[in-house]
Amino acid sequence: MLSVPEGYELSPQPGRGLVKGRPTLECQVAVPAGGASEAEQTAGVRRLTRDMEAAWSGARPWRVRTLPEHVALLDLLPPSVRSDGAPIAPVGLSVDELEPLFVDLRDGPHFIITGPPRGGKSTLLRTWLVSLGASLPVDRRQLYLAEFSHSALDASQGLPGVRHIQDGAALGALLNDIELIADSGVTAVLAIDDLDGLQRAADGDTLHRLHQLVEARRSGLYVLLVGSSSSLGASYDGVGHAIREAHTGFLVGGSEYDDMQVLGISVRHAEASQGVPVGRGFYARRKRYIRVKVAAPPNAADLTALTALTPAGAGSTAAARLVQGGG
Ligand SMILES: Nc1ncnc2c1ncn2[C@@H]1O[C@H](COP(=O)(O)OP(=O)(O)OP(=O)(O)O)[C@@H](O)[C@H]1O
Ligand SMILES: [Mg+2]
Repeated sequence: MLSVPEGYELSPQPGRGLVKGRPTLECQVAVPAGGASEAEQTAGVRRLTRDMEAAWSGARPWRVRTLPEHVALLDLLPPSVRSDGAPIAPVGLSVDELEPLFVDLRDGPHFIITGPPRGGKSTLLRTWLVSLGASLPVDRRQLYLAEFSHSALDASQGLPGVRHIQDGAALGALLNDIELIADSGVTAVLAIDDLDGLQRAADGDTLHRLHQLVEARRSGLYVLLVGSSSSLGASYDGVGHAIREAHTGFLVGGSEYDDMQVLGISVRHAEASQGVPVGRGFYARRKRYIRVKVAAPPNAADLTALTALTPAGAGSTAAARLVQGGG
């Protein structure tokens, strides 16, 4: 309670106020910086903080970081390929830690990529392949992309170091190659976009062989399978079922119950009901998950730079030079 003299009226001037005390005092709050208008004062405050920042030479406080709007794979790639040849590569940022998310293919060895239409599934697949290409020595990896979906035709452009196939017959031939590579110490990655397209394009024998390869868990062989929850949920046997069983992989661009079921995760209702933007989602491993923001693959020019470096046995420096060139 303030006690003011009877009949006293506070001046309506902005910044004018009263300070509790005996007696009560009238005050005028100072402005933080000079200037006739609010804009001039704001500019004055900015100048002042810049000067203070420049003058400060002591310890700095912890920096508050936020999730960037756009995450570029080129910013996450390690400066050189892994000399141990381990199949570990960054695919995006962990949303909670704001650190690069490195996925170890050995944690699969096979992975589901699911989510609603246009959620970012194919983008994740491309990002992952480019990242593996830049993270593993050229002579220690074989990367394959089987793209069967109709929209793939326009979206697809060659990825450096990735063999690209688009029909069932080519897949049959490719399985022969993969069978030879398995257990040889080379990392073979077969990325399939998507399950519906695969089932349409490949004949029964090819599907059976692929299923057997998946079940056999041959060392060095990894399968990344894109599929909607409806097609994955509808497969009670076969490749889709075998890969889904492990509950390992990504849900991108959504948090629908059916999509979460595919990976065996449950996200709190309050969070799930908010929805998930394109390219954001969850990386699940054995029913646990972390939130991720998937990195965008390099643009065509940067990919060309990578292609130019890859076959020349540039190996260990390809990624580093690409990052410098692209940054
Ligand atoms: N991580 C990301 N960062 C930025 N943009 C993204 C990301 N993921 C997807 N997009 C954009 O969202 C759109 C849809 O992505 P994408 O084609 O990968 O989705 P999809 O799930 O494969 O779609 P479909 O169901 O049609 O196959 C594209 O235009 C793509 O550029
Ligand atoms: Mg797609």
